[in-house]
Amino acid sequence: MVRSIVWPLLTATASFFGEIAAYTYNRRYIDNSSGTPEVIIPGASSYNGLNLVPQMGWNNWNAFHCDVNESLLLSTAQAMVNFGLRDLGYNYVVLDDCWSIGRDAGGNLVPDPIKFPNGMKYVADKIHSLGMKFGMYSSAGVFTCGRYPGSLGYEQQDANLWANWGVDYLKYDNCFNQGQSGTPKISFDRYNVMSQALNKTGRPIVYSMVSSCVIGATTTPMIGRTRLPTAAACPATSTIPSTDLMPRCPCTEAIGCAWPGFHCSVMNILNKMAAITSRTMTGYFNDMDMLEIGNGGQTDSEYVVHFSMWAMHSSPLLIGTNVLTLSPANLAIYSNPAIIALNQDPSGTAAIRKWQYFVDPDETGEGEIALWTRSLDNGDQVIALLNAANRTMMMNATMRDIFFDQATAGAYREPEELRKTWDVYDLWANRMTAAEAGSIINGTAGNFTFNTNSTANPRVTRYNATATSYEDGLKNNNTALLGLKVGSIAPSGTWSAEIARHSVGMYRLRARETPVPRKKDEL
Ligand SMILES: *[C@@H]1O[C@H](CO)[C@@H](O)[C@H](O)[C@H]1NC(C)=O
Ligand SMILES: *[C@@H]1O[C@H](CO)[C@@H](O)[C@H](O)[C@H]1NC(C)=O
Ligand SMILES: *[C@@H]1O[C@H](CO)[C@@H](O)[C@H](O)[C@H]1NC(C)=O
Ligand SMILES: *[C@@H]1O[C@H](CO)[C@@H](O)[C@H](O)[C@H]1NC(C)=O
Ligand SMILES: *[C@@H]1O[C@H](CO)[C@@H](O)[C@H](O)[C@H]1NC(C)=O
Ligand SMILES: *[C@@H]1O[C@H](CO)[C@@H](O)[C@H](O)[C@H]1NC(C)=O
Ligand SMILES: *[C@@H]1O[C@H](CO)[C@@H](O)[C@H](O)[C@H]1NC(C)=O
Ligand SMILES: *[C@@H]1O[C@H](CO)[C@@H](O)[C@H](O)[C@H]1NC(C)=O
Ligand SMILES: *[C@@H]1O[C@H](CO)[C@@H](O)[C@H](O)[C@H]1NC(C)=O
Ligand SMILES: *[C@@H]1O[C@H](CO)[C@@H](O)[C@H](O)[C@H]1NC(C)=O
Repeated sequence: MVRSIVWPLLTATASFFGEIAAYTYNRRYIDNSSGTPEVIIPGASSYNGLNLVPQMGWNNWNAFHCDVNESLLLSTAQAMVNFGLRDLGYNYVVLDDCWSIGRDAGGNLVPDPIKFPNGMKYVADKIHSLGMKFGMYSSAGVFTCGRYPGSLGYEQQDANLWANWGVDYLKYDNCFNQGQSGTPKISFDRYNVMSQALNKTGRPIVYSMVSSCVIGATTTPMIGRTRLPTAAACPATSTIPSTDLMPRCPCTEAIGCAWPGFHCSVMNILNKMAAITSRTMTGYFNDMDMLEIGNGGQTDSEYVVHFSMWAMHSSPLLIGTNVLTLSPANLAIYSNPAIIALNQDPSGTAAIRKWQYFVDPDETGEGEIALWTRSLDNGDQVIALLNAANRTMMMNATMRDIFFDQATAGAYREPEELRKTWDVYDLWANRMTAAEAGSIINGTAGNFTFNTNSTANPRVTRYNATATSYEDGLKNNNTALLGLKVGSIAPSGTWSAEIARHSVGMYRLRARETPVPRKKDEL
């Protein structure tokens, strides 16, 4: 059982010229005071035990839009098993819009009989038989965004139907809401009806609320955090075609705009996250929207940025491309266990942008470079050196910048982290080769023995999360999850790396030894 308690989410210390520094306390823990261990998620919305880490899976929308059917879902699910994606944790097969033809005389939604000749329960059963979960779509409006029937006013009836079919996840859109929006409270009330309805079915279902919170935290800031009795996720909206700013992206700011993710670029969405990282926690994850890797419009290194930063932010990882035609290079990106392990870290934390500035703005119009950091459950720290400029940069992360919040948190004395030596692991060094990924795709890869520790082989490319959870793998220092050790940082030192244009350097830092005593302690 999972229950929720109130917990302080932020500590803040003002700095004189800069911004308020803040970081989150939201680690889950086990309470055994009653003699029965209980998972406690401070401040979380999750009452049904789901969504302790971000959901992973596939959603058909980005690649297929309304062209959906039974065979697409089932052949994709099978390919995800064959390609090892299910066993990397990509469990949810999510059907998006355009699946029904209306309601029957009893008011029940009717699946399109041409697209789904055997009905939806059949699809759910088949997906379950592959060891996967089934996601369904509707809208908190009279129509869905594609103008199919929506669930406003039919919440309990629809929830019951989905529960009977065996649905495990609901993506709940925000189209045609009859004007029931405008204040956080109005939207909250509308989304809460479905939340209660899902709960009443008795079937644990992840509740993914679109454009209602998020990056859309704006219109309904706290919806996912407020006592909704289902596990929540909050997706941004629409597609993300490239790293360039899109003319159709109407929002430059995350706060105060109704369509924060709509037709926005990877870099645009990423930077909007800076304002709302404290809203991410176990049981509630800001969804930066489905992944575009494989859909064109970005280079390989831009895809790596996209995947890395979504993982870094604990965004749900929903593959948004045609898995049946996945290229070896793109499978290798989706399959990097060292990056997925960040996403699935039990901390449920998001990344914090420590600095951002613009180089060569006249040449590129953008030219951003940035340092993002994130604290993980086991005390490791991850840094992302992001180069969105148009040329290779030597980028530097000082320990003082990485641990800025700790260094300015109240006591104004050197934090312990600055007195440690940190080993540095490159999280992309062990990306599988195109040949290895190709052999997985064509089924010639053969069986694979998954390594369980860091000493046997520093070059492990694959991982089986069905056999060993990411949490346990991290405890065992599984090489596939750690990446390749490439150096270390001396106390108060700097990590420097040459980062190519439109690329990111992703490094896991692990404290090597107990810190040397401070001068004062020696006296
Ligand atoms: C929880 O407490 C009970 C009773 O004291 C004990 O038997 C059990 O081992 C504890 N479980 C854990 C996981 O600590
Ligand atoms: C199912 O959908 C896929 C993807 O849109 C399409 O290629 C395929 O022809 C469809 N199959 C049937 C039986 O309609
Ligand atoms: C329904 O909500 C209650 C808490 O209000 C929770 O204990 C229960 O697990 C939830 N059930 C489902 C199926 O979500
Ligand atoms: C990026 O640099 C290349 C040369 O390295 C140049 O051809 C291209 O025009 C530049 N792009 C922009 C947007 O300035
Ligand atoms: C990183 O440090 C090196 C060496 O001090 C310097 O040449 C380089 O310009 C720095 N990079 C940035 C982006 O400031
Ligand atoms: C499978 O893919 C690998 C890697 O691309 C290639 O070397 C091998 O020849 C392929 N085998 C078959 C049977 O297609
Ligand atoms: C892979 O494992 C399966 C089940 O253990 C076994 O039947 C099969 O022969 C193995 N294949 C190879 C290439 O080792
Ligand atoms: C690591 O695994 C190898 C074989 O997989 C084993 O021989 C070795 O003893 C293990 N080392 C540790 C420290 O567990
Ligand atoms: C992963 O482990 C599970 C459970 O041990 C097993 O059934 C599955 O075949 C494994 N997957 C791969 C790709 O080896
Ligand atoms: C994993 O590595 C950490 C840090 O080096 C070490 O303290 C811990 O004992 C290791 N765990 C195992 C199971 O080897």
